[in-house]
Amino acid sequence: MKIIPEIQEVIDQTGYKSLKSLMFLHYLVKYTNPNNILELGTGFGCSSIFMAKAFIGDRIISVDDYRGDTSVTMGQPHDNLVKCDVGHKVMLEEVDSRFFNDPDFHPNIVFMDASHNKVDLLSEYVSIEEKLPKDHIIVIDDLFSTDVKEFAVDLLKKDCYDLCFMPKFHDGMAVLSPYVFQNEILAAITKGASYA
Ligand SMILES: C[S@@+](CC[C@H](N)C(=O)[O-])C[C@H]1O[C@@H](n2cnc3c(N)ncnc32)[C@H](O)[C@@H]1O
Repeated sequence: MKIIPEIQEVIDQTGYKSLKSLMFLHYLVKYTNPNNILELGTGFGCSSIFMAKAFIGDRIISVDDYRGDTSVTMGQPHDNLVKCDVGHKVMLEEVDSRFFNDPDFHPNIVFMDASHNKVDLLSEYVSIEEKLPKDHIIVIDDLFSTDVKEFAVDLLKKDCYDLCFMPKFHDGMAVLSPYVFQNEILAAITKGASYA
């Protein structure tokens, strides 16, 4: 994936010091070809852009309530997505990530990057659990935060997950999936690791 100046601006705005986690997300989408993606925590739209650049499926929904720790309005990620040419691929929703509920949306990949405490993470998961297709992938960001780590380990106890990869990208990521995606996830991790 080519980092055009518009994308570099969003990376700088968001504060990513490395491309590893973003490129991992990009190649995860490329290799698993999901029909739907749900992102919890839009921020400035940076991770959305990287996923959208590889996306040829139906819908990406990205959720944020714009509480102000990153972007303060939906206008910021919207403008970023448009200038990076992926505005048509990502549907932004202004909603609390703990209560996202779209009965017709069945995400194959969920990227959890909003709340970072255990109770909120569990609420996020519970609100979408019944909508998840049998084979889906959960990516959790900021694994080095204690609460996030505990949440990821608890989640792995569920029958639907066979594997948990933990690439040391960004502040640590956890990737939970059934066995069926092991090769694709490993390939995406390998790609991510090849970037500075
Ligand atoms: C780390 S930033 C997301 C960064 C983005 N995923 C990226 O990598 O470019 C976390 C975002 O989650 C949002 N957030 C935190 N708690 C939330 C909640 N309960 N509901 C909705 N959004 C929330 C914040 O407003 C913030 O924009």
